[in-house]
Parts: sequence; C-alpha cells; structure tokens
Amino acid sequence: MKLRSRSTSVDRGPTKREKYVIPRGVLDIDWQTLFTVAAHRHSGTDEQEALQRVQSLWGTSRATIICQSVRSGLDLLLESLNWRPGSQILMSAATIPQMARVVIEHGLVPVPIDVDRETLAPDLDQLRARITLESKAILIAHLFGSRLNLSELAGIAQLNKLSLWEDVAQGFAADRFPGDDHADVSLFSFGMIKAQTALGAAILRFRDPAVAQRCEEIQLQWPEQPPHHFRQRLWKAVVLKFLTWHPVYSLLIGTAASLGTDYDRLLSQSVRGFDATQLFVQLRRRPCRAMIDLLHNRLAHPARHWMEQKTKLAGRYDELLPVPVRVGSQASFPARWVLPIVSRDPQRLQIRLVRLGFDATRRASQLSVVAAPDDHPQWTATRTHTWLENLLFLPLHPALRDSHIRTIAETIHDIES
Ligand SMILES: Cc1ncc(COP(=O)(O)O)c(C=O)c1O
Repeated sequence: MKLRSRSTSVDRGPTKREKYVIPRGVLDIDWQTLFTVAAHRHSGTDEQEALQRVQSLWGTSRATIICQSVRSGLDLLLESLNWRPGSQILMSAATIPQMARVVIEHGLVPVPIDVDRETLAPDLDQLRARITLESKAILIAHLFGSRLNLSELAGIAQLNKLSLWEDVAQGFAADRFPGDDHADVSLFSFGMIKAQTALGAAILRFRDPAVAQRCEEIQLQWPEQPPHHFRQRLWKAVVLKFLTWHPVYSLLIGTAASLGTDYDRLLSQSVRGFDATQLFVQLRRRPCRAMIDLLHNRLAHPARHWMEQKTKLAGRYDELLPVPVRVGSQASFPARWVLPIVSRDPQRLQIRLVRLGFDATRRASQLSVVAAPDDHPQWTATRTHTWLENLLFLPLHPALRDSHIRTIAETIHDIES
C-alpha cells in the first residue's frame, strides 16, 4: 500500500473523522454466553467434581488448580513455599504492579529484569548478573499474547537451583497450550479483558504435585468468593459489552467530552478485578461456583473466531506500521489480543487518533516497571522503562476495516517521521 509522503506537520495527516468512534476493543465473550451465566443454575455436581471437569479440559498430566485470579494464585504459591523473608524473586520488569505487590506482601524482594522491546524476552545477561544467594525463583511474563521460548531460561534456573515460573496471564490463545514443560509453575488468566474471558479465574499448572496440593489445601481454607461479587462482574461485563458497540461508544465519548469526564481512566478502572485498598482480602478467596462453571464453558466451547480476526487485523497493522514503532517485531505470537506501539509522543498521537475517531489508549494493559529493591538501587530496569512509558495501544475491534488501519498507519507515519 502506498502511504502518504512523510510530513513534519501534525496537521497534514488524514483529517476525515469517522462517523463512529472505533473503540479500543471488545470483551471476548458473546451475548449468549453472558445470558447463560446470568441465568446460571449450577448443575448439581459438587465443587470438587466441577473443578475436576475444568482440570480435565486443560489437557495435561501435570497437577493443576483453579484460582480466582493469577494474583491469587501467586499469593497461594508464595504462601505454600514459605520462603525466608528477604528471598528474591527475579521478575520480568514489565508486569502489572500488583504482581510485585504480592511478592512484597510475603516479605520477599522483587528484582526487575529488563525486557527487550523487539523480542519481549528478558535480558539474560542482566538476569545472570542479578542472581544472588538469596534468589529463589524466576518469574517470566509472556507479554501482549507473545510466547517466549523458555529453554535457555530453564538452563539458567537449573544451574542456579531456582524455580522457573511463567506468567501466561497475557498469553492464553485457546490453542491447547497447557504451559511450557520447562516451567515449574505456569499461571494462566481468564480475567475480564483477556482472551476467552471467564470474568476472572486462573489456572495454575505445577511440575511438583506436592506444591499443587499444598496450594489446594491453603485455598480450601479461604472463603468462597461471594457469588454477588461475581454477579457484579457479570453486569459490568454486560454494560461494557454494550458500551463498546461502536455507535453507543461514540455517544459515550461525546457525552464524556462535553462533561469533561476522563472516560479513558474510567474504562480502565472498570475492568480492574480488585479494589487496591482491600487487595489481599479480595485475593484470598476461592472461585465461586458460577465462575468455575463459566470457565468450564469457555474451555469446553473455545470460540476462536474473534481471536483469529484480531490476529488478522494485527497482521495488517504490522504490514503498514513504521518499523520503529513496532513492539514485539521479533517475538512469536500464537494469537494477538492487543496491539501496542511505542511512540515518540504517545499523548499527541493518542489525541490525534481519537480526533479522527480511533480510540487509542495508553491504559489498556496497566503494565508498569518493577522498582529496584531498596538494598540494590542500581538494579533498575531503565531500558524497559524507556519503551513502556511511551506505549500506546491501537484499536482492535470488530468494526475496524482495512481503510481504518490505513488511516491509522498514515497518521502514525506523519507523527513519528
Ligand atoms: C502480565 C500480567 N501478569 C499478571 C496479571 C494478573 O492476572 P489476574 O487478573 O488473573 O490476576 C496480569 C493481568 O492483566 C498481567 O497482565
């Protein structure tokens, strides 16, 4: 495709505004499933049987457990291991802040490891240099739907007697990937904005069945997630799904603009699973029956259509976007569910795209950089910081057409050149 000639002027890019705003995305769950959940009457099987039905669908001979979220799962895992305070967990520097918060809650120290923007892999030299006698585990995140090859990391972990955990919260692709065999623990999320969402829930897969059993025993002592909390999430999902129908979304944005409301902040807050002020009270709950049944439904009837469509749209973006803005250009993606780019001026680009009718956002994934530990202030992750703070997520929505992607790409060429 021929793009417009590059220009230094912001005002010379495409100017025709879309009739409707194209929203940033849409929840990956259809109306029928939402209404089935709303009318949910559980099947009469007991909780253990319901859990086993989900576990059998995961297709692994390793032990698995089902939690309310990946954060709850990490909390359980650390509780079960009961490591000495001050022990260190080497983590991908780019993750959601509450993953590091869970580590700290257990008296442990998160140690950030830089993540490369092109490969989305951790810097292995830096990782080796930050291993100490206090190090206990490596927690690696597969970001934005990419999938890392863990073999080299497994070698480092083995050599240093560390556990290797993979955070696949952003990586479920309904492609029967049960977790990497190199990992001691794999953590998958089915949170609100994730692929094939179960409005929450997580699956953890363990190499060591004894660790799985300890986690299971601790979880059994936790109270059940109150069913009305799950129902609140359900109604939130119904509202969000309705709002992200593009004619309605256009109205929403228009109204928010006239009221001076920051809709971007409101939307990103509304998909957060837990209230930060009561985080550990909320994390330490077993998933309720409706959530387990919904997770079963999602795994038993994988709906890959939207995921495949998104992956195609992302492929088109990749063809048209200038190379310097791309994220994960050397990573492998079994599927795409978000499309981040790095901009020299993400705020200006966002404003420009929104004006044209494309709801780009800086808040889609809530990632931030893990801070250096107090006793090793030099262990920063400055390279990750450089690209993460300039991230902008482009829309991936069923209403997105090829002409839209071309307009977005032209605008980006204009601003970034
Ligand atoms: C990289 C990463 N890790 C962990 C999580 C937490 O997953 P959950 O919401 O299931 O706790 C997320 C959630 O977005 C994430 O993006």
